[in-house]
Amino acid sequence: MVEHQHQPQMSEEEQKLRLEQEKNLLENLNHIKYKIVVMSGKGGVGKSTVSANIAEAFQKQGFKTGLLDVDIHGPNIPKIFGTENENIQVEDKKLLPVKSESGIEIMSIAYLLDSNKSAVIWRGPQKTGVIRQFLSDVKWGNLDVLVIDNPPGTGDEPLTVLQSIPLIDGVIMVTTPNTLSKDDVQKSVDFVRIMNLNKIGLVENMSYYTCPHCGEKLNVFGESKGEEFAKELDIDYLGNIPLTEDISGSVDKNTINTDKDDEISKKFNSIVTEIKKNYLK
Ligand SMILES: Nc1ncnc2c1ncn2[C@@H]1O[C@H](COP(=O)(O)OP(=O)(O)O)[C@@H](O)[C@H]1O
Ligand SMILES: [Mg+2]
Ligand SMILES: [Zn+2]
Repeated sequence: MVEHQHQPQMSEEEQKLRLEQEKNLLENLNHIKYKIVVMSGKGGVGKSTVSANIAEAFQKQGFKTGLLDVDIHGPNIPKIFGTENENIQVEDKKLLPVKSESGIEIMSIAYLLDSNKSAVIWRGPQKTGVIRQFLSDVKWGNLDVLVIDNPPGTGDEPLTVLQSIPLIDGVIMVTTPNTLSKDDVQKSVDFVRIMNLNKIGLVENMSYYTCPHCGEKLNVFGESKGEEFAKELDIDYLGNIPLTEDISGSVDKNTINTDKDDEISKKFNSIVTEIKKNYLK
């Protein structure tokens, strides 16, 4: 007899729970019109910043928007919205998302931890469980768009997200000129394509810096190659975001930039327009 050490038999009770969760997950997803996943090859490129601002732009453009932070080890989304001290409420055995000032429904592991400074050390299967619960046991309600912010790379979190959501409308890769080595982007794109998803777009963050004195555009992190790479990888180029003091440290300053009449707001709104044009049909 071969012993299946890694796949212990589920008890009847566990099986029932699992089925119940699957049912809730599909029921939840049924009420969410569009699902957009944000990924990157490297950390610190601005995924959370881009996710937050895209969600805000959607919400301000009249889409009922949700934002799910599946970065278990560095959940930054609540901080960007200044909602990190909110407590999660429970209703009908479901977790209620926290509302941003503009009405975005936010869920993050940060809300479930005693202190968001405590390091979280979780193994793969536990992470997978929490992420699936975020999809099944959260009362998302009717949403037009759900934006999902991932940790960097192609690990358990993005894998769980891509495997658990049957119909994903678009995957957004965030890069910066200095990390925009073709290999990194290619690896993430391959990962998504293996999951049979072909709606992939690229956002180049920290593309350039505009000198406040003379207005010259400086390529701080090297020459901007986003558009060229997107073409080579056969993915959509959705736009770029400059390096700016308005965003730097937004995690600490709770800065969202989409409704001002400035360059950065226009950039985020234009990226959302591209997302709508390419993926929300
Ligand atoms: N365009 C930008 N200009 C200036 N600072 C930025 C920009 N984008 C992101 N940042 C800053 O860089 C840091 C990392 O961004 P974050 O969104 O947390 O990256 P990731 O989620 O990819 O790890 C944060 O402090 C953020 O405020
Ligand atoms: Mg992040
Ligand atoms: Zn200058």
